[in-house]
Amino acid sequence: MTSVGLPHHYTGKVRDLYDVAHDRMLMVASDRISVFDVVLGDEVPDKGRALTALSTFWFEQTASIWPNHMVSSDPTDFPETAGPDVAGRAMLVRNAQPVRLECIARGYLFGSAWSEYEAAGTVCGARLPSGLRMAERLPEPIFTTTTKAPAGHDEALTDAQAAALVGDETFERCREAVLAIYGFGAEHANAQGLVLADTKLELGSVDGELVVIDELMTSDSSRYWAAEEHRVGVSPPSFDKQYVRDYYLKLGWDQRAPAPPLPAEVIEGTRARYVEGYEILTDQSFDEWYGAEN
Ligand SMILES: Nc1ncnc2c1ncn2[C@@H]1O[C@H](COP(=O)(O)OP(=O)(O)OP(=O)(O)O)[C@@H](O)[C@H]1O
Ligand SMILES: [Mg+2]
Repeated sequence: MTSVGLPHHYTGKVRDLYDVAHDRMLMVASDRISVFDVVLGDEVPDKGRALTALSTFWFEQTASIWPNHMVSSDPTDFPETAGPDVAGRAMLVRNAQPVRLECIARGYLFGSAWSEYEAAGTVCGARLPSGLRMAERLPEPIFTTTTKAPAGHDEALTDAQAAALVGDETFERCREAVLAIYGFGAEHANAQGLVLADTKLELGSVDGELVVIDELMTSDSSRYWAAEEHRVGVSPPSFDKQYVRDYYLKLGWDQRAPAPPLPAEVIEGTRARYVEGYEILTDQSFDEWYGAEN
């Protein structure tokens, strides 16, 4: 773990949180990678920096659409005790009370949504038009939710179940936020030659205001496909964790910890995809992001 001279607050699968003040935290993205909700033994070099770089871009771009928790990713704004190791991978954020839902926007039918649709014609219990195919664009983007399980797999929720968990008003505000942000992200991605098939985000409340927290439209939390490689009916090559998932699916791992080690070329391929995703979406060079070794 990166050495950080701040009080430790929480460690998630990928991020570590540290207290900075009563209303501020430093959120540090590690190079850990989790697949099928299992944290792998291997790390992907530069992954934490790539995730923070891309989240920073999206938080800036979407701030006028919906407020978010980001204060700054510029290391000169961090407390000195944070130390030099966090540059590029850390973000100073406002402390929020997380809404206990994972919120997902889907513009295309893929992953667990495709599996449910194929079996039952529904996604999170809601019926969709019949005859849709894998990776097909949906008539309009849909909002779905899952539980935020502290350990293990997140479970799909129906709208009624989610609203019962967090309250009708919060649920509707989450839907509004997530669809607005996804609409913006999908349009921007499209202009850069990518399809944003789906994305997962978290919201939390800060002083009674519902804001986006955690990460935003990163390669960990989203499915990105090259628009020119997207074909309805097949699994498109992607700029995200699907590459690692596909490796394990081929290997036939039972998805229980510990995960088999990743070969060096899969680690390098994963690193390259995270960096390329950032560069394509932002038109920025990853070498110029904070914390690059010169
Ligand atoms: N501004 C914020 N205020 C409070 N908590 C936050 C904020 N931003 C993110 N978090 C929380 O920090 C954690 C980030 O950890 P990480 O992304 O590694 O976890 P995860 O894989 O999403 O799952 P889990 O939290 O269940 O381990 C999440 O639990 C998220 O809810
Ligand atoms: Mg998270």
